[in-house]
Amino acid sequence: MATQAKPDLSSAAPPHGARHVAIIMDGNGRWAKKRLLPRAAGHRAGVEAVRRVARAAQDLGLECLTLYAFSSENWKRPASEVADLMGLLRRFIEADLDEFHANGVRLKVIGDYHALEPSLVAMIENAVARTSGNSGPMIAIALNYGAQDEMVRAVQRIAQRAACGEIMPDTIGPAEIDAALYTADLPPLDLLIRTSGEQRLSNFMLWQAAYAELYFTDILWPDFDGRALAAALDAFRMRDRRFGGL
Ligand code: IPE
Ligand code: IPE
Ligand code: MG
Repeated sequence: MATQAKPDLSSAAPPHGARHVAIIMDGNGRWAKKRLLPRAAGHRAGVEAVRRVARAAQDLGLECLTLYAFSSENWKRPASEVADLMGLLRRFIEADLDEFHANGVRLKVIGDYHALEPSLVAMIENAVARTSGNSGPMIAIALNYGAQDEMVRAVQRIAQRAACGEIMPDTIGPAEIDAALYTADLPPLDLLIRTSGEQRLSNFMLWQAAYAELYFTDILWPDFDGRALAAALDAFRMRDRRFGGL
């Protein structure tokens, strides 16, 4: 029996129209608490959700998925929890890098990741370098990321260029600021999702979210999956983005 050829959709824009989705992955601790488990079990289940959602993002045709994994404020947590999170990150890179690479994913890291343990910094740099020539979607992990730190760093870089006469202060505009942020080579942010019912940005992508659509869901991060991402993209498709116009 002849099989019908599938249409080639690889070059078609996905129907939801979003290029870049970012997620504040929140609720691991509450997920564990509901099950009378230690918080670390919630973080482990959160890593499973990262795997599911990274695959779904690729299937849904996203160009970039940015995941908020550790904020510049999360150092305030007990040292044991910080160590659990760093251990999970290490194991995630070890276990999943080959699959990401095989799928053509380009891994990126945003945030001041140099403050992490030197061996972890080396693993991150190796993962980013190994996948940098890929042509598939980007997965950007925000590590020791804080939007205010990012902006301070951008202002310092621009001020240094101005001080040595490379640019004139009155020629500094949004494009110069965009270029000095961690996200300089990421597509513009379309949709920002936060799980777990909290409705705040917690110092995430404050500049980039200027015209992003915001989507809040009560789903706790370890329960989030491809269907939940597709539902968020359906909601995004129904939004009327006016960017200040009519
Ligand atoms: C998100 O889950 C993961 C990180 C912030 C690293 P939380 O650990 O914040 O979970 P809740 O908010 O306590 O439920
Ligand atoms: C934001 O979640 C940071 C990440 C998801 C990595 P938090 O749980 O740290 O945020 P707050 O403390 O509730 O604002
Ligand atoms: Mg939280």
